[in-house]
Amino acid sequence: MEKRWWHNSVVYQIYPRSFCDSNGDGIGDLNGIRSKLDYLAELGVDVIWLSPVYQSPMDDNGYDISDYKAIAPEFGTMEDMEALLAEAKEKGIKIVMDLVVNHTSDEHEWFKRACESRTSPYRDYYVWRDAKPDGSAPSDLGSIFGGSAWEWHELTQQYYLHLFSKKQPDLNWENPKVHDEVHAMMNWWIDRGIGGFRLDVIDLIGKEIDNGITGNGPRLHPLLKQMNNATFGDKDLLTVGETWDATPEIAKLYSAEGREELSMVFQFEHITLTWTNGDKWKPAALDLKAFKQVLTKWQLELKETGWNSLFWNNHDLPRAVSKYGNDGQHRVKSAKMLATVLHCLKGTPYIYQGEEIGMTNVKFDHLEQYKDIETLNFYKVRTEAGVSHEEMMAALAENSRDNARTPMQWSNEANAGFSTGEPWIEVNPNYTAVNTELDRASDESIYEYYKALIALRREYEAVVYGDFTPLVEEHDKVFAYLRQRGEQTLLVVANFSDESVDIDLGIETPDKHSTLLSNTNIDFSDLNHLSLQPYDAAVLRL
Ligand code: GLC
Ligand code: CA
Repeated sequence: MEKRWWHNSVVYQIYPRSFCDSNGDGIGDLNGIRSKLDYLAELGVDVIWLSPVYQSPMDDNGYDISDYKAIAPEFGTMEDMEALLAEAKEKGIKIVMDLVVNHTSDEHEWFKRACESRTSPYRDYYVWRDAKPDGSAPSDLGSIFGGSAWEWHELTQQYYLHLFSKKQPDLNWENPKVHDEVHAMMNWWIDRGIGGFRLDVIDLIGKEIDNGITGNGPRLHPLLKQMNNATFGDKDLLTVGETWDATPEIAKLYSAEGREELSMVFQFEHITLTWTNGDKWKPAALDLKAFKQVLTKWQLELKETGWNSLFWNNHDLPRAVSKYGNDGQHRVKSAKMLATVLHCLKGTPYIYQGEEIGMTNVKFDHLEQYKDIETLNFYKVRTEAGVSHEEMMAALAENSRDNARTPMQWSNEANAGFSTGEPWIEVNPNYTAVNTELDRASDESIYEYYKALIALRREYEAVVYGDFTPLVEEHDKVFAYLRQRGEQTLLVVANFSDESVDIDLGIETPDKHSTLLSNTNIDFSDLNHLSLQPYDAAVLRL
């Protein structure tokens, strides 16, 4: 495998609206991010993935773009963006932009022009269909945010497609003009010195709507190759696709060397394990054995070809420590355990803002406290279909995207130090106990632990390129594996439970071995008789 800079990089995701507000309007912004670059540089991250900052009516917090070449005023100006790029670069940090091109905002110039008439030159930038003879929508296709994926347009008497909200009309990727526009826009950003793109719901652009195909359509990979060749292909950038239904086979199509598509994709197989039959509003308990099986499968399948991205959470998902760890008594310890397991797998790790201090899910008591369009839409859809308020509120507390979107907790000052004004969404009330200042001042700092993990990646090539071998695969509480490269053999062992576990790792204990990093002071001298305390984790060099 040819070495690439993003193989040994660590990415930090910023959701700008919730990161740091520099001017007291309650909304995080670019200058807020600039003021925290030292915090990120010290953590040791190489890349920032910036969720959308483009001009947008903010129906979906910026994933509905009305101008790809302008910055939303609430986030700042293009000068602020250029300053952010330059200052980040000085600190050795690249910025990956979020590329949302499955759809635009309905307030984008293209869509406004498309709506003028059926003969508008922009009409075919979007997906229009006639009503059925009875006037109903062209198909039963549902929107990912609930309700129909078709919206009637009165003036021109046709339906348009929106796989997300009706303010997010889908672009028509069967139209070569759309390719040209998108490619030109991408090159415009590349010329500004960005580090790459995170491609939003990219698996949807090959859709064949009349055949009922949305994800992984037949034209998807040719379109990506074409995009690669027209834009970032010869630029050495990091590109990561959001691909909800990717299997390892599909992931290899995207990320194998020589295919000229993407660096890597986000797969969600481990995430959806805690959903019942793919329904996130019916949360299920974590089955660690199944979880290990999924992650192991991905490690082994992408061993020679392709590349994994590694993440526990993002702006669409609940907080990792609440979902897979313990956000009560063992918060600090389980946050470090999760970090250990993730960062030592083979792939590029992603840290979601606040994860590095163990931020938790929020528990909102009232529906009004939620702001997310998906959350509010589904509350309506499901309660109208008979699910009780209580059941739905419990599901939201577990899986609402707003869990990840409460403001970053910087200090125990008002509003967690996020803003001097009233934040656009309430701060998690636990900010007085969970914030960067307290964490970094503590002997048990999670931030310091992440720093150490990132440093380990720099020091041991086995962390980046080592072969992965799972251990104790049948165990339902302990996740353990080896990473081997040349002289380096690393053992990662983690107790994923709140119980003590006695375990034999099933490998011979070498005469001499050392602990490189751990969240515990238990004795690791005998790998055949380990007594792990709740959430104990360690990286050992054998
Ligand atoms: C992706 C984004 C999500 C957004 C959706 C529509 O899944 O991560 O936040 O709502 O695409 O753009
Ligand atoms: Ca602001």
